[in-house]
Amino acid sequence: MEKKIHSLKAAFSSDLKGVTHSKEIEELKVKYLGRKGPVQGLMVELKGLSPPERPKAGKVINELKQEIATLCAEAESSFALSEQASRFEKERLDVTLPGRNRFIGRRHPIKLMLKEVIDILSGMGFSVQYGPEIDSDFYNFEGLNYAADHPARDMQDTFYITDDLLLRSQTSNVQLRVMETHTPPIRIIAPGTVFRNENISARSHVFFHQVEGLYIDKDVSFADLMETMKEFWSKLFHKDVETRFRPSYFPFVEPGLEVDVRCTACSGEGCRLCKQTGWLEVAGAGMVHPNVLKNGGIDPQKYSGYAWGLGIERLAMLRYGINDIRMFTENDLRLLAQF
Ligand code: PHE
Repeated sequence: MEKKIHSLKAAFSSDLKGVTHSKEIEELKVKYLGRKGPVQGLMVELKGLSPPERPKAGKVINELKQEIATLCAEAESSFALSEQASRFEKERLDVTLPGRNRFIGRRHPIKLMLKEVIDILSGMGFSVQYGPEIDSDFYNFEGLNYAADHPARDMQDTFYITDDLLLRSQTSNVQLRVMETHTPPIRIIAPGTVFRNENISARSHVFFHQVEGLYIDKDVSFADLMETMKEFWSKLFHKDVETRFRPSYFPFVEPGLEVDVRCTACSGEGCRLCKQTGWLEVAGAGMVHPNVLKNGGIDPQKYSGYAWGLGIERLAMLRYGINDIRMFTENDLRLLAQF
């Protein structure tokens, strides 16, 4: 029996040396201490020994059992430790590294500018109306009192789709639609894209955005227009800005005006932004022409109104210090990511 125990020990320790993973230890334990294993076999043999020999041999077998179990447990825990260490090494991450920047979409500067203008005017009681970008000659020109030979109708300026259909050249095309469908008092703004067949340069593009304003009621006067403009521009520039009205011509208003504000950069002293004039041209405006009211089904004897149109690109260029209108459509992330 002693010999058997001796060789069993030797076999176990050589098996143990061959173990490469903690999982194999469990198998080793089963192999030696399991019900069909050699240690259990010795226990069976024990029964064949004479009674005086039994206790001693039993003790030796128990010690062997203990020894194998302890060696297994030790090996298991040392394997577990080194396996954990190597797993940690593999999963190692540097928590001091800066996080990865996720790029989130932003509003386009033109949309930001539009939103600002719309928010201010909504707050002043104007409701928002949208009109079509493809429209008939009537709404864009004829109904707005443009003579048949008016140069703005020329192919050079306007994109025609057919003889009668065109890409609107101004948001003023919304004016008659609103007059046709609403009864005064009318107090609306119409933001949107307009198209003109111009050479693309730093200052002009083939499409841009306007916000039209239209107010029709009894006794609407020129003073109302002036005051509304002053209020709006002051709100937009966050200070009390001075406005100036210069005579101009648009067929659908009489009188027609150009609206200027005191240069926001130099306060009127003259700088590059205002081309040394001290003033910035910011809108076209005027009192709605009686012919236009008539065309829209509104009695010019009873009602009067004012209208204006402003360009969003120009405002955004002033506000954000952008000096080339093409930058808005180039989709250069170096610009867009700044907003
Ligand atoms: N529609 C004119 C333009 O595009 C602007 C304007 C609007 C002028 C309303 C007067 C009244 O230039």
